Amino acid sequence: MSLKKPAEDQPESFEFNSSSLKAANSIIAKYPEGKKQSAVMALLYIAQRQNNNWIPLAAMKYIAKFLDMPYVKVYEVATFYTMYNLAPVGEYFFQVCTTTPCMLRGAYKLVDVCKSKISQNENVISKDGKISWMEVECLGACVNSPMIQINDDYFEDLDEKKLEKIIENIQHGQKIKPGSYKGRKSAEPENNRVTLMDSKNA
Ligand code: FES
Repeated sequence: MSLKKPAEDQPESFEFNSSSLKAANSIIAKYPEGKKQSAVMALLYIAQRQNNNWIPLAAMKYIAKFLDMPYVKVYEVATFYTMYNLAPVGEYFFQVCTTTPCMLRGAYKLVDVCKSKISQNENVISKDGKISWMEVECLGACVNSPMIQINDDYFEDLDEKKLEKIIENIQHGQKIKPGSYKGRKSAEPENNRVTLMDSKNA
């Protein structure tokens, strides 16, 4: 599992821009009077989206004031969940699932590719500033393992060569295609199987 440590270089201040403010207020409006602290996770997520996919300490302090709650409580939430980044990440942020189904299907070979092609250690941005990676727990796409999430999209049924090609495309400024890299639609069976009735043990 990855270490979560706030970045050493921190901006001095943070505040929501107008669209984040609108989103934050509409989330808070969903909670009963006096319960706006319940919106803390959503507001951290909004701050992360606004701030190039990571949350500075100033944003946690800002959210604490925004929700009338102690800063340490916001800090506790932000440091507990892996979906919050506490330091800058690459423009392309790779989350490599290494939980059991992905691990059995070669996730650590993908980790080796990340180490050799992006950066030796996770949470370190590549020299060209474009990519960073980290190991994460199950992302709920086990049937298409091994898989990684890049920003908001899933890249599935991968192997070393396919991942190397994805990284190469990013480095050359080309588009990358999400989805199955075995040509499967969603999680459909391989080889066009549509029923289990032709299976001897079904
Ligand atoms: S184990 Fe990797 S997506 Fe579930």
